[in-house]
Amino acid sequence: MVLVACAIALACLVSVIQSAPLTCEELLRPLAQPDLRRLEGRWALVAGGLSHLPFLERFRQRDSASVTFYRNTTDSTTSYTPSVRLNNECLYSTYNITLEGDSFTYDGTDKSNLTAGFVHTSCGDCLLMLMNMESGRRQHFYLFSRRRQLEQEEMEEYKAQVGCLNMPPPAVMDPTKELCPEENATARRASSSSAAA
Ligand SMILES: *[C@@H]1O[C@H](CO)[C@@H](O)[C@H](O)[C@H]1NC(C)=O
Ligand SMILES: *[C@@H]1O[C@H](CO)[C@@H](O)[C@H](O)[C@H]1NC(C)=O
Ligand SMILES: *[C@@H]1O[C@H](CO)[C@@H](O)[C@H](O)[C@H]1NC(C)=O
Ligand SMILES: *[C@@H]1O[C@H](CO)[C@@H](O)[C@H](O)[C@H]1NC(C)=O
Repeated sequence: MVLVACAIALACLVSVIQSAPLTCEELLRPLAQPDLRRLEGRWALVAGGLSHLPFLERFRQRDSASVTFYRNTTDSTTSYTPSVRLNNECLYSTYNITLEGDSFTYDGTDKSNLTAGFVHTSCGDCLLMLMNMESGRRQHFYLFSRRRQLEQEEMEEYKAQVGCLNMPPPAVMDPTKELCPEENATARRASSSSAAA
């Protein structure tokens, strides 16, 4: 009896702690030292927040998207290929990125045009990527996961993060739409700054 009461009290305490609203600063905490090796493999795009409405509208037209990070990684450099399915076509591009502190730069691209970073998330198999374009005037905030669809609380956390960035509500991908096949050696090149994920 005592045990049960304790367990319940503890559960209440835990839920009180969990429901204390996080500040935007806490919600947008950058991932300090991302382990690039943990990134290897494929991640499905679950949702995207974009600061500019015309871009967001275009983004919504995608059927699906994913990113594949490669094994040819050092502590501070790696490569990845986003794939986008749009109108039954698959578009691929490959980027080499270099970690500098808690953000990374795109090789061959001016830092003032494009940098990105990972943001902390409580979702264990997710990857949250914040891209800053045009000296930070335009931002894209992508939620990737090893799963196609997340739990409601996980989506709530993401939506709160999008709100903190003052973006319009994010576009959520349809988890039933097929992903593009993973492309390996034959990555075609696309224009570098517009379609980085
Ligand atoms: C990435 O780096 C590799 C090795 O340095 C190079 O062969 C490749 O062309 C680079 N790819 C891009 C898209 O810059
Ligand atoms: C950065 O953006 C400016 C303005 O759009 C452009 O002129 C310049 O070529 C870009 N630099 C790189 C390295 O992409
Ligand atoms: C690319 O895919 C083909 C067929 O799926 C496979 O045989 C090949 O080893 C792959 N290449 C690389 C570099 O992963
Ligand atoms: C890593 O591997 C991918 C796929 O084979 C390739 O496109 C990319 O250029 C490689 N990056 C480096 C830095 O070698």
